[in-house]
Amino acid sequence: MSGPERVTVAMTGASGAPYGLRLLDCLVREDREVHFLISKAAQLVMATETDVRLPPKAMMMQAFLTEYTGASAGQIRVYGRDDWMSPVASGSGSPSAMVVVPCSTGSLSAIATGACNNLIERAADVTLKERRQLILVPREAPFSSIHLENMLKLSNMGAIILPASPGFYHQPQTIDDLVDFVVARILNLLNIPQDMLPRWGEHHIGGDE
Ligand SMILES: Cc1cc2nc3c(=O)[nH]c(=O)nc-3n(C[C@H](O)[C@H](O)[C@H](O)COP(=O)(O)O)c2cc1C
Repeated sequence: MSGPERVTVAMTGASGAPYGLRLLDCLVREDREVHFLISKAAQLVMATETDVRLPPKAMMMQAFLTEYTGASAGQIRVYGRDDWMSPVASGSGSPSAMVVVPCSTGSLSAIATGACNNLIERAADVTLKERRQLILVPREAPFSSIHLENMLKLSNMGAIILPASPGFYHQPQTIDDLVDFVVARILNLLNIPQDMLPRWGEHHIGGDE
């Protein structure tokens, strides 16, 4: 199996709930164990942007997402915002990769300062301190100097900033195509197989004339 067997996925309250849901779906299909965290604001955004209505409590959310994605029992684990006893709260138990998708500018700032005021911030802090893979998918327009400084700071610490800005060179026909563009880039970084977007040059037959 290429890429991490266990991945932490955190959804925060930036626009872009479909990215997080699609990533969850892809990770389940690739047989990964997913540790799932979601902020209150992200639940509001999800209800605004999609037809998915997550139940509020972690255990019910876990059952819902397991059925929604067709995951096997125990494949998706959902933790509440103050569940400090969960594996993601500690370097000895947390997965080797974490994706915050979408990443609000508020969570970006909290992660950049090591605030650890909720489990999402703590899990990201753990990922950074353990020098593991942290992928942040911010969405805001325009970015202020504060946002840009936080992104630079995190990038210098080893986090990967992957903005939710799909390209158009694959000639997307649907919104799903645009979502898949971003999710495919996340999966490429994780080294997890995906067939949504060919890697650049994959179908290129040599020659420069
Ligand atoms: C419908 C909706 C869309 C939002 N879009 C964004 C956005 O694109 N980027 C962003 O940084 N915040 C956005 N926000 C604001 C965040 O949700 C808000 O700052 C919140 O405090 C973030 O909290 P969290 O980081 O704990 O999820 C949006 C809020 C709502 C309700």
